[in-house]
Amino acid sequence: MSVIVEAKQLVKEFGVETALFAPKKRVKAVSGVDLAIEKGETFSIVGESGCGKSTLARLLTRLLAPTGGDVLIDGQAVARLKGKELTKLRGKIQFIFQDPFSSLNPRMNVAALIAEPMEIHRPDIAPQDRRAEVARLLEQVGLRAEYMDRYPHEFSGGQRQRIGIARALAAQPEILVGDEPVSALDVSVQAQVINLLGDLKAQLGLTLIVIAHDLAVVRHMSDRIAVMYLGKVVELGRADDVVANAQHPYTKALMSAVPEAYVGEREAPIALEGEIPSPIDPPSGCRFRTRCPFAQAKCASDEPLLRTVSEGHSVACHFYEDIAAQDTKKDTTEHPISEIAARRFGLFRAAVSKTTDLEKSVSEEEK
Ligand SMILES: Nc1ncnc2c1ncn2[C@@H]1O[C@H](COP(=O)(O)OP(=O)(O)OP(=O)(O)O)[C@@H](O)[C@H]1O
Ligand code: SF4
Ligand SMILES: [Mg+2]
Repeated sequence: MSVIVEAKQLVKEFGVETALFAPKKRVKAVSGVDLAIEKGETFSIVGESGCGKSTLARLLTRLLAPTGGDVLIDGQAVARLKGKELTKLRGKIQFIFQDPFSSLNPRMNVAALIAEPMEIHRPDIAPQDRRAEVARLLEQVGLRAEYMDRYPHEFSGGQRQRIGIARALAAQPEILVGDEPVSALDVSVQAQVINLLGDLKAQLGLTLIVIAHDLAVVRHMSDRIAVMYLGKVVELGRADDVVANAQHPYTKALMSAVPEAYVGEREAPIALEGEIPSPIDPPSGCRFRTRCPFAQAKCASDEPLLRTVSEGHSVACHFYEDIAAQDTKKDTTEHPISEIAARRFGLFRAAVSKTTDLEKSVSEEEK
């Protein structure tokens, strides 16, 4: 496989006013991220609210320009692109927004919403042929072609997200970036939209980049996962490695939200205490140290860099080996999981693993 999106020491800082007449402070939203995303893979970025996921997604799609570093798309550096070259890039990499209610212009009907990116990025389609292409795209995302003359308010959340996906596909992109593409939807509808993205990826040979705060949402759909904490990637690897063999204490703590991962011979979940610190003044050394139960003096003085744990799996923690050794000494009994969490996760998983016939996957409520 070849690398299609590469982040090189990517940095984004925002200037913010914290008090009247006080000098602006810098929010360090993304602080030196290196990533290499392979063509055709589903790459997910997970982490708590405020850790910089959306900023990273916007940098990768060049909706934001970086403060430092660069993004290479198909080998082309994009930080300083302007005009026609930037428009061309936008055709190649499209964004699916989190909120299907605010991301679609309520004054445009579905045909106009989907035709808009087509006009910009596919001038080869003659104006009289656009409606036929809109109809094809609607069917591709599991909606009826006759919906094209309706307006966004006439649709449910899941249907609107399908329209958002059709709009992204209208540009004929190679890469789709979804920023929490299902977090605003009901659990049952989430699974349908995830299935749809997986089907489209397979049919069209797309590369998918998915942002999520919930490991449970992305673990079944991802080839690889990057875990972010306060602007940095702290763990990176194949999805099954990151989930079943998490090395960073933060990833282990995130795993507590994935009940299934705690059944079997595994260590007890680590309770994550306290708020994520302010990105205006992040902790020195390891940014996770103020919440890490294993923190030592070195964690305050030295920043841990990503180190290889096994092939394709890396972690940024000075003491991951010691922590793993401690874990294996702990109890290895099955850990009871909360019934509610288990039921919720079971429902979600059952829905995700259903057959993905698009017509069938649109529920009666959705139609
Ligand atoms: N335009 C902006 N101006 C100032 N600060 C910003 C801006 N955009 C993001 N930030 C700050 O940067 C940090 C990272 O924000 P970001 O939206 O990338 O996080 P996130 O991981 O996507 O969070 P969430 O899960 O809540 O969507 C936050 O502290 C946020 O307040
Ligand atoms: S480097 Fe230190 S503070 Fe950071 S995760 Fe590892 S043990 Fe915890
Ligand atoms: Mg976000």
